[in-house]
Amino acid sequence: MTTATWTSSGHLLGLEGLTRDDLLLLLDEAEACLPVLRGDMPARTDLAGRVVANLFLENSTRTRVSFSVAARRLGAQVVDLLGSSSSASKGESLVDTATNIAAMGVDGIVVRCGASGGAALVSEHVDVPVINAGDGRHEHPTQGLLDLMTLRQHFGGTLEGRTIAIVGDIASSRVARSNLWSLTAVGADVVLVGPESLLPADFGSFIPSGSGRGSVTISHDLDAVLDSVDAMMMLRIQFERHDGDGIPDDYRQRFGLDAARAARLGAGVPVLHPGPINRGLELSAEVADGPRSLVLRQVTNGVAVRMAVLAGLLASDG
Ligand code: CP
Repeated sequence: MTTATWTSSGHLLGLEGLTRDDLLLLLDEAEACLPVLRGDMPARTDLAGRVVANLFLENSTRTRVSFSVAARRLGAQVVDLLGSSSSASKGESLVDTATNIAAMGVDGIVVRCGASGGAALVSEHVDVPVINAGDGRHEHPTQGLLDLMTLRQHFGGTLEGRTIAIVGDIASSRVARSNLWSLTAVGADVVLVGPESLLPADFGSFIPSGSGRGSVTISHDLDAVLDSVDAMMMLRIQFERHDGDGIPDDYRQRFGLDAARAARLGAGVPVLHPGPINRGLELSAEVADGPRSLVLRQVTNGVAVRMAVLAGLLASDG
């Protein structure tokens, strides 16, 4: 029988270090949550009486709301602390903010922050589970899990030997980093695609080689990979992290996925995007809303994944 090791730290700070078995077990647990979301099974009570704190010092739509929905579907109560309305806006540090929230007796803290490593830092200062909801350019583990779940559903089984393209602002992307860890752990091959300015060559060695994982290759030519990929994961250009520096003037022409380019993909090749989408830049509206798009399925799966993570960490926390 497969047993979970991902809960051993008491936190979920990233997908680095999670095994293939950990990832597949989490996905199986998330799949079991979907009937609750569809209303086909009654809401669960795993976290009845627990309080989950969302500590979001960076803006969010999908992640924050889906953590809230997930916690409530498990019977927990949720408190939201947003950077703009918290004393962080007066200069209070991330650690001071988190330790004060923990001192109020919450049972878990979901952290989004601009500092890479911020969630790990919080975990060293509080005695409740910490879940990383995106920390700077480091990781966004629940996004990586929901992407993996969506791809596994699409392919109806294993991702081993599938080639997944991750396209765009790789350098800024915590989503790309989490996806690199998780996709290669389950045996998928990843091709990273973007301009040199947003995709440094050292990403080719981001994942240690010889570890039984899928491969990672780099391309600066999207048109050259279109006919050889099994799925396309488009990334948002993160203007807030580089003020547009490094984005070629012809970015949309070279790396945007519009209907003409999408027509050159193989039959059934899906298109994913973590959101929010810069429509008309990295992804045209026609593709984002078209038959290849799995964008809204990703969002639904995000709730299921966050239920599995919250239940795994908080229900077993005693
Ligand atoms: N994908 C994602 O993290 O979206 P939000 O920033 O809206 O949470």
